[in-house]
Order: sequence, then structure tokens, then C-alpha cells
Amino acid sequence: MKTLDDLLRQERFSDADIIRLLGLTDPEDCERLRRAAYDLTTRLVGDLVHYRGIIEFSNRCTLNCRYCGIRRDNRALERYDLSLEQLVEGAVWAAENNYGSVCLQAGERRDESFVAFVEDCIREIRARTRSERLPEGASITLSLGEQPLETYARWRAAAGEADCMRYLLRMETTNPEIFARLHPDGFAHEKAYASRIQALRDLRTAGFQVGTGGMIGLPGQTLADLCADIRFYQRMDVDMLGMGPYILSRGGDMLDEGMLEQGPLLQLALNMLAVCRLVLRDVNIAAATALQALAEDGREQGIAHGCNIIMPNITPRPVRKRYQLYDNKPCIDEEPTDCRACLEGRIHRMGRRVGWNQWGCSSHFRRRM
Ligand code: 5AD
Ligand code: FES
Repeated sequence: MKTLDDLLRQERFSDADIIRLLGLTDPEDCERLRRAAYDLTTRLVGDLVHYRGIIEFSNRCTLNCRYCGIRRDNRALERYDLSLEQLVEGAVWAAENNYGSVCLQAGERRDESFVAFVEDCIREIRARTRSERLPEGASITLSLGEQPLETYARWRAAAGEADCMRYLLRMETTNPEIFARLHPDGFAHEKAYASRIQALRDLRTAGFQVGTGGMIGLPGQTLADLCADIRFYQRMDVDMLGMGPYILSRGGDMLDEGMLEQGPLLQLALNMLAVCRLVLRDVNIAAATALQALAEDGREQGIAHGCNIIMPNITPRPVRKRYQLYDNKPCIDEEPTDCRACLEGRIHRMGRRVGWNQWGCSSHFRRRM
């Protein structure tokens, strides 16, 4: 068998290589994998970590994904919507504080008033985040689920000409049985699965930078499944990845399905991030907030394993508690801890710098353009 060091020097990986790397548990081996991913990131992507200030503007949702704390049937949850003014103010705050980019996330809805609301928000944010420091205004990532192509096209058009629009739509898992088990909404899973792939293609057609990803450590998920996820990201030629560990949610409907222990789950998630860096090379990879639900320095560990994006939560404090997709979500207390300063220190300690006042498009996206 190849030595681990030989394997880590490769530029192409077989499925067997990927599965071997994902399954590393010996601390010295894991450290070698981490180092290879971190160094490749420095070489291909540079030493900047970019912020996307995330605004969770509504927890209303028409879907019932079983892992998710804000699913439709969670009756215990008080629902909220931010107003256009609140949302735009959040984005303007982000731009004034040198964030080059914001992310708008909410539960999934397709009604016209929702679509039009998002359109108005995009227009306002693009107009009101221009300044001397950010002459082109903020770039915007949407994370609003599956929509028809016309809706994607309207949202894209609302931003104007610039290449500033991104969309995150996680596949969640490419294993069709697990996908079906997670999404009980009554439609045949082949159809649901195919429509997710179509949506990712439509986003590209509509002119978005496209991101996908999934959850790591789902009940029943194997290393071969995670390898298949990586192959899927590769085939879809995505620009960005958002992936994190699956965390139990009391508002969800999976309380009695098996969970990995925290330590092994965190290691598996970190291995997955590192292997994605090695295989997908120049894409943007986010250090998911869910990492921090497992360890206080979870997101820094993500940076150390090849992530170059962090999404600080800039949702107004009073509603944060009502957007708990999973338990133990960090930074949701009423105390206005300053995530911005706190995070910058954390990033410096990982040998990285913050890419203030930049859009931070992925090198992959720039190359494919
Ligand atoms: N654990 C981890 N991630 C979750 N998400 C939703 N619920 C959970 C959970 N219990 C993720 C999904 C979704 C994203 C917005 O949040 O992957 O796409
Ligand atoms: Fe929120 Fe540190 S990142 S307080």
C-alpha cells in the first residue's frame, strides 16, 4: 500500500484513496492530512479568509426536513419575519463594518410575496452598500432553497450586471435512500433528487456562482457515501462548498436515530473538509457554524483544515434563538458579544488574515469565467 505521504502528494485521487483519507483516525495521520489541506489552500487560494455576514430573515418554512429545527411541523416555535428595513439595515451594517459580502437565509417558500420581497431586498442592498471602501457594493449569497428557474432569474436580475450573486443549495446527501428518509414530504425520492440537481443547473444558467454541500455523519451514512458526495461536487463543477456535521435538533424529528459521538464526528467532518480541499482544489469552502456546536474552536479547526470562508451571524439578536436549525448553536445569546472582533483574533491565530472589503469570489469561479 502507498504511504500516506505519497498519497497526500497526489493531485488525483481514486475512490479508494478518498475513502482511506476520510477514515483516518490516528492523530498523527489526521495531522498530516490537515497540513496537506492547509498548505494546498495557502498555495492555490491564498491566506485570506472571507466573511459572509449571514442574516436569517425568516423561520417560516413550507418543508418538513426531519433533521431541521425550523421544519413546518415544529409547532413549539414562534415564527418571525424581518422587515425589509431590518434586513437591509443588517446588510448596510455589515458593509460599514468592512464585510464585502452578506448571505440571506430563510426557510423555504415559493409564494409571490416572498419572491418579490427578496427581489426588493437585493435591489436595496445593492444600492445601499456602495461606499468608498466598497465601490461596487456588497456581494450577496442567497440560501433560499429550490426555486423555479424564473425565480432564480428574477433574483439574479435584481442585482444588476455585476458578478456579485451567489447561491447556496446543499444537496444534503447523494445517497438516495438517506435523502428520502430525511425528506418525508410525500414526493417520490427519485423526483426530489432529480429536482435538486436540476435546481443546481438552473442556478448556473441564471448566472449565479453556485455552492452546494451536505451534512456529515448522518445516520446510516458511510465513508463511501461521503466519497460519492465529493464526486458529485466534482461533477457539478461547483464554485463553493458549505458542509458541516449533522447535529441533533430537538425541534427535528430524528431524536431516536443513531448519532456519532462528538469527538469522532468532529474528526470525520474535519477530514471531509480537508479531503474536499485536496480533491476540489480551488473552490471556496466554508467553515460551517455547526462545527462550533461540537467544539468551541470548531470553525478555527475548519480553517486549519482548508476552509477559507466564515459566515458570522449578523441576524438581529432578539430573533436568533428562533432560528435554531440544530441544538447548541453558538453566538445566539442576548449578550451582544462582538463576533467580528472575536473572530478576527481566532483567524489570526490560525495564520490567516481577514479579506475585509472584498467579495472574495472563489478562484474556481474566476478560472471558469
Ligand atoms: N445539523 C446540521 N446541519 C443542519 N442543517 C439543517 N439542520 C441541521 C442539523 N440538524 C443544515 C442543512 C441546510 C442548512 C441550511 O443547514 O444542511 O441545508
Ligand atoms: Fe460569535 Fe466569537 S464568533 S462571539
